[in-house]
Amino acid sequence: MNIHVNYDDLIPNNVALSDDLRLKRALESWHPGYIDWWMDMGPEGFQQAEVYLRTAVSVDPKGWAKFDYVRMPEYRWGILLAPQVEGRTVPCGEHYGEPAWQEVPGEHRALLRRLIVIQGDTEPASVEQQRHLGSTAPSLYDMRNLFQVNVEEGRHLWAMVYLLQKYFGRDGREEAQGLLQRRSGDADKPRMLGAFNEATPDWLSFFMFTFFTDRDGKMQLEALAQSGFDPLSRTCRFMLTEEAHHMFVGESGVGRIIQRTCEAMNQAGVTDAHDIGRVRDLGVIDLPTIQKKANLHYSLTLDLFGSEISTNAANAFNAGIKGRFQETRIDDDHKLHGTTYPVLEYRDGGFATVDEPALTALNARLRDDYSEDCRKGVQRWNKVIEKTGVAFELALPHVAFHRKVGQFSGANVTPQGEVIAAETWQARQGEWLPSDADMEYIHSLMTPVLGTGAFAPWIAGPKVGIDNKPGDFEYVKLA
Ligand SMILES: [Fe+2]
Ligand SMILES: [Fe+2]
Repeated sequence: MNIHVNYDDLIPNNVALSDDLRLKRALESWHPGYIDWWMDMGPEGFQQAEVYLRTAVSVDPKGWAKFDYVRMPEYRWGILLAPQVEGRTVPCGEHYGEPAWQEVPGEHRALLRRLIVIQGDTEPASVEQQRHLGSTAPSLYDMRNLFQVNVEEGRHLWAMVYLLQKYFGRDGREEAQGLLQRRSGDADKPRMLGAFNEATPDWLSFFMFTFFTDRDGKMQLEALAQSGFDPLSRTCRFMLTEEAHHMFVGESGVGRIIQRTCEAMNQAGVTDAHDIGRVRDLGVIDLPTIQKKANLHYSLTLDLFGSEISTNAANAFNAGIKGRFQETRIDDDHKLHGTTYPVLEYRDGGFATVDEPALTALNARLRDDYSEDCRKGVQRWNKVIEKTGVAFELALPHVAFHRKVGQFSGANVTPQGEVIAAETWQARQGEWLPSDADMEYIHSLMTPVLGTGAFAPWIAGPKVGIDNKPGDFEYVKLA
């Protein structure tokens, strides 16, 4: 088992790259374009800063990363696959139980390539979305976390490009170029998925994005980690190790904002969380606005799961190239013929739960698993509020609220799940989604705090530092 990274190569890897000269040349010729993209579209204004980053040096669960100061353009983006599991079999679909494939199954080549490109496209997209945030960081600690997420999304792009170049020949090389050419939010060459073309204008947006939208990434990676195409499975399994930190950054970031808001309210004797004027006078972000931001990011992210009923999803599962969340832990035949899954549907102006064929309902199922994962995180935020004694509870909005994709698109539904007239929705949406005034207020707080150990007044410090460092550790040495 080769779990140590080969640092002799330009591209650190545990895939014996030096034995595959054709692939090595393809990656080395892609590398300069990647660096150009990083310099153009990566963290603006901080390319020369020395950042205390973790770099994946191994896939050994006991110690896969090392921490050190590094300038981001010199980060060692590598290609790391989780160790091969001896005797692994295709975990789902019509090839269930057959040995997992080490090469692309010819009949499913196009579908597989498409899935890899879509996943790959999200990775650089989020770096582009977040590129202006460094200049308004609420602390060096947060700035470091942002950059950690950014370099790891860069590595995830490498991971997908590796698969494209190794297994998909000329098509793969063209797709790898395309991944460097599209741009988040660009009118002519946008990124492939909606939520990855939205702006991430401030740090609350960043934390919400990493909580909600990186969590979609986690769910997709979980499903692809169940692929019968073993190199994809191994790649995604290692990416999930890094993704856990992105979830942490989002959840703890919002949690610390909530913490600070509640503390400020308590100190000032403000008991009504809905008295937005008084809370904002304290220079913190009121809880109703945090709820609105959650409504926005959750609903945008639900759209990423696609149509609830999907033959593409059924085909991918049948083919054994994309499984369900935790496929191998599910106790059924893993083929889903003749079984059903309950799907919430919008019919005649109301909702009904309909038993749909389980195979075509896989997107709905993965989205339900995602919602459940989000719900647990929101509960942990509510614990933070509860401990301070402030009377307020955050909640996920109804799944049909503010949707643009799938059967709820076009429906006008409140966060509580009440179907209303289009005009009413238009008139009231400012109650549920951040208004321009809300965004302006958040924006007004975004002044950088760059002293070691100092934090912006609208966010609490973390309980513990990164890599067990003390609170006043210099996480970023500014150039
Ligand atoms: Fe990623
Ligand atoms: Fe991520």
